Amino acid sequence: TRYSRITGTGSYLPPRRVTNADLAADLAAKGIETSDEWIIERTGIRARHFAAPDVTSSDLGAHAARAALESAGLKAGEIDLIIVATSTPDMVFPSAACILQNKLGIAGCAAFDVQAVCSGFVYALTVADSMIKTGSANKALVIGAEVFSRILDFNDRTTCVLFGDGAGAVVLEASDTPGILATDLHADGKHVGILCVPGTVSGGAVLGDPFLKMDGQAVFKLAVGVLESAARATLAKAGKTDADIDWLIPHQANIRIMQGTAKKLKMPLDKLIVTVDEHGNTSAASIPLALDAAVRSGKIKKGDTLMLEGVGGGFTWGAVLLDF
Ligand code: ACO
Repeated sequence: TRYSRITGTGSYLPPRRVTNADLAADLAAKGIETSDEWIIERTGIRARHFAAPDVTSSDLGAHAARAALESAGLKAGEIDLIIVATSTPDMVFPSAACILQNKLGIAGCAAFDVQAVCSGFVYALTVADSMIKTGSANKALVIGAEVFSRILDFNDRTTCVLFGDGAGAVVLEASDTPGILATDLHADGKHVGILCVPGTVSGGAVLGDPFLKMDGQAVFKLAVGVLESAARATLAKAGKTDADIDWLIPHQANIRIMQGTAKKLKMPLDKLIVTVDEHGNTSAASIPLALDAAVRSGKIKKGDTLMLEGVGGGFTWGAVLLDF
């Protein structure tokens, strides 16, 4: 049997770190009140990184990809598939994946974007796993890269304090041993309105609202339940139980949602990988950023069983269970 396995991880944060106090001071200058205490208590976020105005998702993603290639011991030229999960691509088209491919100095391999907002990385990893299992690819780069700072309304305190920029990447290779054990993806488009950027480009102008809109409470209510059901579905497919999970790596949006999910899976909180405090919500980049941080800090070791879970706009959700 042919499986897929993660052989390298990498990540990249733009250097500019913005604390809650920095944001609160910027907002106060506009007469909008927020505080470090409010943001930490409601979300667990202490700081986020913002990219410089001329830096794009493909720039951040290329940095993360190079780090993942190095940790896998591969040269860019050995990659035969690039999938970028992003909702903030450099351009309407071509895809961030094509632009990133060129930045890596390679050509010829398949490259495309996957757009599933904060579930983007689990979607992209599932697609890459399927393509490897069917023999369409052997060595894939799967990247989550976002510059959500570009779509934030810095006059809306209910959203602008939540998100950050960054990128994470994995190298996924064909293997005789698993690897990815099970995947489970879902969407329900009737919830488009609770989390969206409604605008688009038309007739030479932005048509509609180009800023992120979120009904935070509606998202919150849906998130914990769907994350539990996706996680349980992967466990059932793989013939495993809660107790088999070594590390839970949920989408890093809000510490309360993450802890709620860990409780539903009966996981002690020290098995929950947390980077939301320092990264904020980086959408499709959050899971590979958290994975790479936990690998490099020595928490996650070869052979550990990981549960990756994403949830976000669409509404989309899904999980990937894997042996690292
Ligand atoms: N600073 C101070 N006060 C604020 C702020 C702020 N930054 N933002 C909102 N408030 C106020 C509100 O105006 C409200 O005041 P009011 O009671 O006078 O009306 C009060 O705080 C409480 O607001 P709520 O919205 O009820 O706060 P809640 O506890 O629900 O927290 C939050 C809001 C953090 C957004 C939460 O709902 C949440 O995390 N939701 C989930 C978001 C998420 O996980 N998204 C993931 C997917 S992201 C993606 O796919 C792109």
